[in-house]
Amino acid sequence: MISLGIEGTAEKTGVGIVDSDGNILAMAGKQLFPEEGGIHPRLAAEHHAEWIPKLIPQAIEESGLSYDDIDLISFSQGPGLGPALRIVATSARSLALSLKKPIIGVNHCIGHVEVGKLDTGAVNPVSLYVSGGNSQVIAYESGRYRIFGETLDIAVGNCLDHFGRETGLGHPGGPVIERLAKKGSYVDLPYVVKGMDFSFSGLLSAAIREVQKGTPMEDVCFSLQETAFAMLVEVTERALSHTQKDEVMLCGGVSANSRLREMLRTMSEEHGAKFYMPEMKLCGDNGVMIAWLGLLMCKEFGPMDLNDTRIIQK
Ligand code: KG4
Repeated sequence: MISLGIEGTAEKTGVGIVDSDGNILAMAGKQLFPEEGGIHPRLAAEHHAEWIPKLIPQAIEESGLSYDDIDLISFSQGPGLGPALRIVATSARSLALSLKKPIIGVNHCIGHVEVGKLDTGAVNPVSLYVSGGNSQVIAYESGRYRIFGETLDIAVGNCLDHFGRETGLGHPGGPVIERLAKKGSYVDLPYVVKGMDFSFSGLLSAAIREVQKGTPMEDVCFSLQETAFAMLVEVTERALSHTQKDEVMLCGGVSANSRLREMLRTMSEEHGAKFYMPEMKLCGDNGVMIAWLGLLMCKEFGPMDLNDTRIIQK
């Protein structure tokens, strides 16, 4: 079976093609870079409307296949920005109708986990999925994927990006904060883990206040990272203890951060668990993960009804 996947939950448009053996036949993508501020849902939707029709033929050409060879159209059904999801769902339906192919909508977060397993060889990990829009600790347990912990407000990537914008570091904030943090030392910031969930909005406000008070930027960046990442690692550690699994996987765009990787790897090794991280091009949003999860789900449950118009917003 050959699956073509369309991704577009946030600011990245992606189209990927995979076969049943997990070979990646094509991976095309285009990211929207906002001129100012964060990601506006309408602009993200317009970006997808412009790029999906360009990326589909590009991916077909890259794969060396013809449209006839495609057996399944997979698309990211959510969670994500409502207007963006509607464009993706409509594009996928139009393609499925015109090619007379089956269609399946899939969960974006599980897409990250499944493509991570494909790439790393992890079998059944506890996954920390951290990006600009999502922060979740996910594991497959008792017959289905379950969320063991998640953010109570904003995603960790959003926290870093918002901090970057408010303090003049620019967007996206994550990479700049990582660089500055290397020269910083610790100042106290609020650490919020409630049960198995974490919260970043209070931490964000406190970090911005520190900068306004004149605390050196390097120190705030260091402390912001240490605090936010310790919260994520604590919840992953608890999920690992609870599930008694022996694998941990880090995925999503924030996994580019070497300090987060180091902290999660150390925790995993202390518990005798193997630590995995997919290659970076598969960590960010992409069409391949949607194509792959669609293929897995279709094999297990069959395609969805073309008239099913559900989308899963946050
Ligand atoms: O998964 P992703 O590519 O897409 C979205 O969710 O939109 O993740 C993007 C996020 C942004 O918040 C960005 O700041 C963060 O990943 N990021 C990083 C680093 N590189 C990218 N965060 C921390 N350290 C980095 N080096």
